[in-house]
Amino acid sequence: MARHIALVPAAGIGARLGTAIPKQYLPVAGRSLLWHAVAGLLAHPTVERVAVVLHPQDARFEQQPWGEMRARIAALTCGGAARAESVRNGLVALRGEVTDQDWVLVHDAARPCLTAAMLQCLFETLDSDAVGGLLAVPVADTLKRGDRDGRIVRTEPREGLWRAQTPQMFRYGLLMRALESADLAAVTDEASAVEALGLSPRLVQGSERNLKVTYPEDLALAELILASL
Ligand code: CTP
Ligand code: MG
Repeated sequence: MARHIALVPAAGIGARLGTAIPKQYLPVAGRSLLWHAVAGLLAHPTVERVAVVLHPQDARFEQQPWGEMRARIAALTCGGAARAESVRNGLVALRGEVTDQDWVLVHDAARPCLTAAMLQCLFETLDSDAVGGLLAVPVADTLKRGDRDGRIVRTEPREGLWRAQTPQMFRYGLLMRALESADLAAVTDEASAVEALGLSPRLVQGSERNLKVTYPEDLALAELILASL
């Protein structure tokens, strides 16, 4: 039986948020974003372990109130210069304890509102899939192409467009191969590296609630969502 291991890249600095504390350690509903992201993954019994990729100078990870969860978490201090590099380094560090057939769920530390129900959708759809896939939501708004002055150039068709979220779930061997041949500075998610191999990852309908905290106003929204879960 293939195992399910989660990998959480948490080695960024959160430049767009612009706070002194790295984004993954900002508090929401009394806990850091990273804590919520890890707890969300471990809330599903199928997720065996969570490997967290930290910045080499990280000083905050062990201060988090992990409690009993700590036994199922591995801290890997091998963060890289770009998200995909952190993920690739984390995969390399896991080599030896996983097989090529094991599933890896890559999940952003900046997505604190993941639920066991969202993970269940992912597992039900992908456990028998040859390629793997990701949570995503269809684009709901009308899309405008803007120019530099903030004026509309045209309206773009939104038919068939989705917003990629995480977790992104691929077999270890395939994901390793995809990231080994990818331009790590340009790749913003695992699926695009797999796509570059000529494969078509599966889009699994997720939820708007699985938001990524990127800008300051997202923090208040995450707090509201967490309170409603
Ligand atoms: N990440 C990482 N290593 C990097 C850059 C990002 O592990 N070199 C992680 C972040 O910590 C985050 C996830 O990748 O959990 C998604 O990245 P993003 O939301 O872009 O976070 P940051 O890169 O920290 O933010 P920004 O792009 O605004 O600087
Ligand atoms: Mg970033």
